[in-house]
Amino acid sequence: MRVSIIDIPKILDERGNLSFIENGKYLPFIIKRTYWIYDVPGGEIRGGHAFKTQEEIIIALSGSFDVVVNDRFNEAKFSLNRSYKGLYIPRMCWRRMENFSTNAVCLVLASTLFQESDYIRDLDEYLKLSEKRHDF
Ligand code: TYD
Repeated sequence: MRVSIIDIPKILDERGNLSFIENGKYLPFIIKRTYWIYDVPGGEIRGGHAFKTQEEIIIALSGSFDVVVNDRFNEAKFSLNRSYKGLYIPRMCWRRMENFSTNAVCLVLASTLFQESDYIRDLDEYLKLSEKRHDF
């Protein structure tokens, strides 16, 4: 599956809206781990790596930020600012998060448990390994 925006169910309510995610529904993988990035100082960049096997969904639970994805062929920027939209990132896709607003919360749903050996943190190594073109 390509990098794409996934619609997360949204229950509109005058008392406040509600969204939810269930394993086995709407998502192309089973969630093994979730983590979130918050209190990001202005101008900072997070991410900046690829995963050998991990797939993920990135959600702006609060505030806004940009996710920049690239492979050796092209680059695209996705601005996230809705808590009911998720950005699917397949394995072997270089990505970074930037332009965080004040109070932004970046939620990541991951298909793997944390394993440092799954990271590719060196761009040159990634470019050597990534033969497949992603469609952004
Ligand atoms: P990392 O994914 O490298 O964040 P970024 O790419 O934004 O710099 O994670 C930062 C640190 O947190 C790194 O030392 C690994 C650790 N970490 C965990 O221990 N468990 C996790 O689930 C995650 C995502 C990170």
